[in-house]
Amino acid sequence: MTTDRTAWFTHDRFGMYIHWGLYALGARHEWMRSREFLSNEQYNKYFKRFDPDLYDPELWAKLADEAGMKYMVVTAKHHEGFSLWDTQLSDYKVTNTPAGRDLLRPMLDAFRARDIKAGLYYSLLDWHHPHYTVDVKHPQRYDAAFVEQSKQRDWQQYIDYMFGQTEELLSKYGKIDVLFLDFSIPPEQGFPGKGKKEWQSEKFVELVRRLQPQIMINDRLQIPGDITTPEQYQPREWIKVNGEKVIWEACHTFSGSWGYYRDEESWKSVDMLVKMLVDTVGKGGNLLLNVGPTGRGEIDERAVERLKGMGEWMRRHNRSIYGCTAAPEQFRCPDDCRFTYNPETNRLYLHIFSWPFKHLHLYGLSGQVEYAQLLNDASEIRMVEGAQEMTMEAGAFNEGRSADTLTLELPIKPPNVAVPVIELFLKS
Ligand code: GLC
Repeated sequence: MTTDRTAWFTHDRFGMYIHWGLYALGARHEWMRSREFLSNEQYNKYFKRFDPDLYDPELWAKLADEAGMKYMVVTAKHHEGFSLWDTQLSDYKVTNTPAGRDLLRPMLDAFRARDIKAGLYYSLLDWHHPHYTVDVKHPQRYDAAFVEQSKQRDWQQYIDYMFGQTEELLSKYGKIDVLFLDFSIPPEQGFPGKGKKEWQSEKFVELVRRLQPQIMINDRLQIPGDITTPEQYQPREWIKVNGEKVIWEACHTFSGSWGYYRDEESWKSVDMLVKMLVDTVGKGGNLLLNVGPTGRGEIDERAVERLKGMGEWMRRHNRSIYGCTAAPEQFRCPDDCRFTYNPETNRLYLHIFSWPFKHLHLYGLSGQVEYAQLLNDASEIRMVEGAQEMTMEAGAFNEGRSADTLTLELPIKPPNVAVPVIELFLKS
């Protein structure tokens, strides 16, 4: 399933998603235009005032790097139709706002300078283009005059634009490692959908692969891609397509919105986010975690706090993430724990989500582990093999553990980390 072209992706596991556009000024979700049924004219106030004077892409790249993120994906264009780069195909672009400059190029440069791979998100939907036809997601779907006028639109002109912009992005911005296309719309409420036929997906993918043969493409063109992309939920198990395990990536927000949302308060804790990363890798997937920078160009303090918290954990525990995947199926993971496994080093990582009192029993692992340690400080964890007796203060006893059980003797106090990890060196 993993090939030479995709190996970096399944090794790196953790990326930064960036949603940045005019909606940062509305500060109430990147879908605000559609949710509030805003016309081009009504939304134009943000275009006139987009001026991220505190934008410091090196700082963004530093935050991602220190969080342990190895690739990034940024919205070159979101559904609102605004281009964050100096496109030659539209005036609705960043260089015509008070920002007055291409904001994409310095971002890609800054991340690449830290060895972070560069990915682009490109919205298939476009609520601004004069030839994008109305659909169930369009902001003006209930505006009868607009719907009527939409019938005169020439769809092929939009497709030419979409192909043309993609060509610009994939030929003028250096090596692009990931392309995240978003998304195909099922038919609904009497509106026709938009999918592989409308996007001309096969021809589109040919163009992309011709320009960037190594690129990884996601799965939202309604044809299979390199990456399956569940959004804002944790899959139960390794994702399968037609019965086959596939390369997959969960994308998540810190707080429910992708674009900057000032008043959103349901921010996930660092502990929860680390657990989500571990859970994902333990099921063979990647995590793409989103920040929505502000209209001033900063990653807001709530996101910074979480990135730093994750980085604090990653600094000591990234061995259980990079190069890791699901554990071989014969290893039964104890309750409240997650395994990840590195096939290269043959080490198994036990992540303890809820710290138990003193003993952790690993069924089926007796005789298979050479050495065990806490990953945060490399302190030995002593092991009791099989049905061997444990020494207790009130004398030796064995409460009927099976011979294939390996028991770990844990300290009473967990280490002071978001999620404790025990590194198990398996016998070869
Ligand atoms: C979506 C949404 C969106 C967000 C994205 C993240 O389907 O339309 O606003 O950009 O997925 O993957």
